[in-house]
Amino acid sequence: ATSRIGVTGLAVMGANLARNIARHGVPVAVHNRTAERTRKFMREYGGEGEFTAAETVEEFVEALERPRRIIIMVKAGGPVDAVIDELAPLLEEGDILIDGGNSHFNDTRRRVERCERDGLRFIGTGVSGGEEGALLGPSIMPGGDREAYAEVEEIFTSIAANVDGTPCCTYVGPDGAGHYVKMVHNGIEYADIQLIAEAYDLLRHVAGLDVPAIARTFEEWNSGDLESFLVEITAKVLAKTDERTGGPLVDVIVDEAEQKGTGRWTAQDALELGVPLTGITEAVYARTLSSLREERGRASGVLRGPVPSEEKDRKELVDDIRQALYASKVVAYAQGFAQMHAASRTHGWDLDLGAMATIWRGGCIIRARFLDRIRDAYAERPDLENLLTVPYFTEATAKAQDAWRRVVMTATEQGVPIPAFSSSLSYYDGYRRERGPAALIQGLRDFFGAHTYHRTDAEGAFHTRWAQDGTEVRTDT
Ligand code: 6PG
Repeated sequence: ATSRIGVTGLAVMGANLARNIARHGVPVAVHNRTAERTRKFMREYGGEGEFTAAETVEEFVEALERPRRIIIMVKAGGPVDAVIDELAPLLEEGDILIDGGNSHFNDTRRRVERCERDGLRFIGTGVSGGEEGALLGPSIMPGGDREAYAEVEEIFTSIAANVDGTPCCTYVGPDGAGHYVKMVHNGIEYADIQLIAEAYDLLRHVAGLDVPAIARTFEEWNSGDLESFLVEITAKVLAKTDERTGGPLVDVIVDEAEQKGTGRWTAQDALELGVPLTGITEAVYARTLSSLREERGRASGVLRGPVPSEEKDRKELVDDIRQALYASKVVAYAQGFAQMHAASRTHGWDLDLGAMATIWRGGCIIRARFLDRIRDAYAERPDLENLLTVPYFTEATAKAQDAWRRVVMTATEQGVPIPAFSSSLSYYDGYRRERGPAALIQGLRDFFGAHTYHRTDAEGAFHTRWAQDGTEVRTDT
């Protein structure tokens, strides 16, 4: 046994992770279900480090030092269980399985328990950063067996991205916590992308900018508060000229957004937890609406939009859109962090949300300048219930709100859909209100279903006998 760690599943993420580890001087065993891919890996990258190619699982297990450390990089769902089933009988007490895919956190919880029963240890880890991140330094979100993590910590922190001397990797929490945090990361990624798409739509169809000008606008924005990987690559995608048509590439890409599920899971779990997660959820809906392409085509010939109103001052509008994007982004992150806070309580994970912001500052898809601010916020108030209430963000949203409201009004007037911008603003307005209209909802529920209500001026549950004499009775005594 000569390898300190093994990677099974050599599609691009697995292959790049293995190369990243080897480049840090760690001997790695590589394996793939179909051996041809392992051979191809060795032909292409075998010279980059100390690899042992294993054609069978037996050889793979044989190649590893004890306790064996095995990173599984296969498609989430059934394939992960299949790999565990295949490996488990060949492993020994204390060996460590690490799932680095986008697994559902409930699957991870189940796998942690299953491995415990078999005397094995399981780590479910989020790995973010796409192909390039996996190779050059991803953000890593490991959860599960804490002692097992200690045995891979050195390798993980050395291959992770690094910001100001701090590695973008830290133990997240027990059982499914790592994959949960990765799921919310992806949900925030969906919201960020949707907000960017809405800003692009407005710049193009309301401000009337052409695509190269929009590319330059995003490039400019990337040097301010909005500085982030996603804004940076937006400028690049928009600046790309299509080789066939000579026009912008974005104009020949089919406008149907696909998804693999993590954003949807985030929204589903928010519903389960009872956390208002409007930004991310609207982003999921926007993708599903986009995929009704044929229906949209038919509807476009039938449903009428507004009469275009007079031109706005373009420069002012562009800056308003920037501010609306920033404020909506703050809301999306506030909601995502509030969800992690709620999940942490529900599952007893004791998540350190400041640490999550810290490991998202580099390597991952949502890396952004303002994560520093989020980290600072939790450093000051670790049990913070909502990021919006921290002075920095309170100021930022207050300052942006006039622009934000103008953008929502203009877009609505012009008939340009802005589900994430507008729902974020509604959340902001709903959250900052001491007393809202839910009192009426309770009254209605009591009217038709005797569901009872609470009073602001007395303890207990009450019901008005709407259909009888209209008197109120206390129902909980
Ligand atoms: C990352 C990404 C990645 C995710 C893709 C695709 O952190 O590197 O989140 O894990 O798989 O972004 O997500 P969708 O296909 O659902 O858009």
